[in-house]
Amino acid sequence: MERTFVAIKPDAVQRGFIGQIIERFERKGFKIVGLKMLLPTRELAEKHYEEHIGREYFERLVAFIISGPLVAMVVEGNNAISVVRRMMGSTKPQEAEVGTIRFDFAQVKEMNIIHGSDSVNNAKREIDVFFKEDELIDWHHDVERWLYE
Ligand code: PPS
Repeated sequence: MERTFVAIKPDAVQRGFIGQIIERFERKGFKIVGLKMLLPTRELAEKHYEEHIGREYFERLVAFIISGPLVAMVVEGNNAISVVRRMMGSTKPQEAEVGTIRFDFAQVKEMNIIHGSDSVNNAKREIDVFFKEDELIDWHHDVERWLYE
């Protein structure tokens, strides 16, 4: 079992897709162990995207992510990090596989609806940036006996 960090970005919130995006992760059988809406501060956004500091798009990326509320989630399940990334599709929505979240909901990489951690280390780091330990709920996901052997 793995945990990954997911952000439903401000464009998705504004366009009314929170429910449809969460529904995909629930339908897949993932367990949501953390969930909140927040208006991120610049400091929080810069910490989250710290590995992109120095890139020419960094300022635009930070400005976008603090432009409105986002929904932060921690999603748990079998290979959650890579499976969530596959469900999201490529950074550039035009290159994303048909049926992925970015293909289905987005047009350009500057407003690509969703973020998901790309590695175990980044998942741990990003979860810590957004969530306090007592905000994560280790609940019993009863349907797992119908999902995993
Ligand atoms: S890289 O170079 O492969 O690490 O970058 P990439 O994965 O393509 O993108 C990292 C995040 O930066 C966002 N991005 C941009 N935002 C605004 N403008 C431009 N030009 C731009 N290029 C990349 C991209 O959406 C990624 O955001 P996250 O939230 O990590 O998906």
